[in-house]
Amino acid sequence: MKGIVLAGGKGSRLYPITKAVSKQLLPVYDKPLIYYPLSVLMLAGIREILIISTPEHTPAYESLLGDGSWLGIELRYKVQSAPRGLADAFILGEDFIGNENVALILGDNIFYGQNLTNILQDARKLKKGAVIFGYPVKDARSFGVVEFDEEYRVISIEEKPEKPKSNYAVPGLYFYDNKVVEIAKSIKPSKRQELEITAVNNVYLERGEIKVIPLGRGMAWFDTGTPESLLKAAEYVEAIQLRQGFYIACLEEIAWRRGFINTEQLRAIGEKYNMTEYGQYLLSLANEHN
Ligand code: G1P
Repeated sequence: MKGIVLAGGKGSRLYPITKAVSKQLLPVYDKPLIYYPLSVLMLAGIREILIISTPEHTPAYESLLGDGSWLGIELRYKVQSAPRGLADAFILGEDFIGNENVALILGDNIFYGQNLTNILQDARKLKKGAVIFGYPVKDARSFGVVEFDEEYRVISIEEKPEKPKSNYAVPGLYFYDNKVVEIAKSIKPSKRQELEITAVNNVYLERGEIKVIPLGRGMAWFDTGTPESLLKAAEYVEAIQLRQGFYIACLEEIAWRRGFINTEQLRAIGEKYNMTEYGQYLLSLANEHN
């Protein structure tokens, strides 16, 4: 399975912070925002990842993350010349996706929770159709909203409804079979002139090929589009890291634990950043396994 991180958009709800800087490069406590969605794809075991961003900001992602070899993964980049919607990722990514299935994650979505790795690895096994998620929120109006019956079968999926039929938002993480490329090409732009991911999901729903996994209380999901949500996410990361001593979205740790890089490679990165707590954390992991 291939993975795509969509890190485009103007970040207009974060102006003036995003006037000169891409939103997904902003810090969430101690690391750039894009580390978090990238970590989710890596936890799913996905090692070939396309990062899509704007013409101005793509070079910054390339200098931050390079070709991915330092993490034992392959990173590629694609420029999206205008924000044409989430589903445009599959059109831009057509050659990259090839004949494989694909997972899409939005560059500003943060997931963290006890059972996350298992959930991701199950979703990754999909053979046919789509797997998306439902996450209870207090006010679902600014999200895709999924309505379930008593047996958690999907009844409807609506994009930013004024009157949500449930309080389950659809977070920005989607797993699809290869048909998603054709489906993305077939849908029409919405009123806001975007190819909506909800339109793609509705095609799968009509075909009876979508599974929506409800995420429970034990899972944290943040989308970080406003100053407040960005701060809340940072506070959450800080609280967990300080309390437990485990890092959230530490790409080098994930790469090492999954065997994408070896202990010597981990140690070398730790030594390079020895002056930060982040670097020292990497060294402490490497030293555990002397
Ligand atoms: C997008 C999707 C929406 C989803 C949300 C998750 O919204 O259109 O369905 O719930 O991401 O972050 P947007 O960020 O484009 O407003």
